[in-house]
Formats: sequence, structure tokens, C-alpha cells
Amino acid sequence: MAENLAGQLGIDIIGLTSRRFPDGETYLRIDREQVSDCVIVVASLEHPDEKALPLIFAADLLREFGAKRIILVAPYLAYMRQDKRFEAGEAITSLSFAYLLSEQFDALITVEPHLHRHADLNELYAIPSIAIRVAPELAAWVQAHTRNPLLIGPDSESKQWVREIANQLNAPYVVLKKIRQGDREVSVSLPDIGAWPDRQPVIVDDIISTGQTMIAAIKKLVQAGFAAPDCIGVHAIFAEAAYQQLAAAGGGRIVTTDSITHHSNAIGLAASITASIRELLCE
Ligand code: R5P
Repeated sequence: MAENLAGQLGIDIIGLTSRRFPDGETYLRIDREQVSDCVIVVASLEHPDEKALPLIFAADLLREFGAKRIILVAPYLAYMRQDKRFEAGEAITSLSFAYLLSEQFDALITVEPHLHRHADLNELYAIPSIAIRVAPELAAWVQAHTRNPLLIGPDSESKQWVREIANQLNAPYVVLKKIRQGDREVSVSLPDIGAWPDRQPVIVDDIISTGQTMIAAIKKLVQAGFAAPDCIGVHAIFAEAAYQQLAAAGGGRIVTTDSITHHSNAIGLAASITASIRELLCE
């Protein structure tokens, strides 16, 4: 992604070497002793606990070598889901993570952050932030690869994407009811969708983590007599064996954006991210 963005923007790439010492501490080195005033750090933040400290060290190092403004491009922004104290005593990690990154960076660009209980990233982040919406890119994929789609949102939060995609394609959409009983236990219920028996279901969600949300939706749709549903996820987290489990669940194609590098990536976001970088640089 960094090479792609640098190519589109016509800018140089700073080489960064990173490794772990035997005791687990991080070693970092950049390939020069002077950097430009404005530096863009590209780091998608899946596995955030492994990446956060090296990211902070990298920002410090860049400032030491001359960076005055550092823009973080994190196509996947982690720690956006625990944005509320669901049980007494729980940490609201979305706030702590936002505080940490806001201290180190001057601006943030991300893609479809999990903004379900906050209207805007700026409610969490103290730096200028852009949250790129990708419904147009998802709609373009559906249009190019599916005939007669029926857009399926597996939970109420996914309505925002399926409604927009369906409107763009002049196709119907439905939103399922999801109940999450635990990290890996999810059940969904279907509304009456008998009006579209011959349509190709396309399930769209922002994050595929354990894959259980997609799997529960596939099972319900197949039980109801629909064709094997295609699955589109914005962020290809695929925790542990999630991809294999999803692939074995009886669905159709599994497609993701390249916000996180994965072999299911089929929807490129570099053009949208480049446009957002240009927008920030012009401010
Ligand atoms: C939840 O609010 C998200 O939009 C996704 O539905 C969820 O993160 C998917 O997780 P999993 O793949 O673990 O079911």
C-alpha cells in the first residue's frame, strides 16, 4: 500500500528496518538522517498490540530526523469496537488508543472505522481525521461481478453500507437481526425475504474477524433456499482460522478491500486514500 500511494503521489519512500531483539524489544532504523517536513506513515493496525509501540517509536524517530508534520494512514484502525462500558469496570479502549495516537501524529486517515456509537472520529481523536467511506467501491464490485443482487446487511450497523450500495445499483436490500452471545457465538434472524427468491445474496459487513457473523448469515440464507451468498468485508481481519471456516460455510465468493493485505483482497483503495492525503496536504 505504501509503494502504491507513493507512486500515485510521486513521493519518495523512507526505508524502515524493524526487528525484535531476543528479549522481545523493538529495534528500528531508517535509511537516512534527514527526512522532509511532512512524512506519511502507512500502517494498517490489525494486530495492534504488536504494532502500536513500534509505530510510536517510528514517529519519535522521524521527528528527531526533521519531520514537523506526520500523517498516519491506517487503512484499518484498531480499537474502535470497545467504545462503551458494556459491563461495569471495563476499559473503553477506543478512547485510550485514540489518546495514544493523537499524541504522536498530526493527522489521521483511515477507512470505514467502526463508528457505530460515535458520529465522527473527531469525538475520539484530537487530531484532524478523515474516515474514508467505501460504499462506492463495494457497489462497483457488486455491479461488475453479480447479476440481480440482493444486498444483505448481517446486523443493524451494516445497514449504512447495504442501503447505499443497493441505492446505487437500484437493487433491494435487507438487514438481519444479530445477537452476539460471545466473541465467537453469533445468531441472526431473517426478516421475510420471500419477495426475491431468484436474487443473488451479497452479504456486506465492515469487519470480518472470527467470521461468525458472515457464517450465521450464510446458513440462514441457504436454509431459506437462496443461492450461496457472496461475502464482502471491508477489513479482512480473519482471526485464527476464520477464513477457512468461512470458506467452508457454504457461501460463494469471499471478497475484501486491501485495507489489510489478504489473498481475498479484490477491491483496491489506493485511489481513495491518495485523494484523502491530497485533501489533507492542501489544507
Ligand atoms: C460488528 O459490529 C461489526 O460490524 C462486525 O459485524 C463484526 O466485527 C464481525 O465480527 P465477527 O467476524 O467476529 O463475527
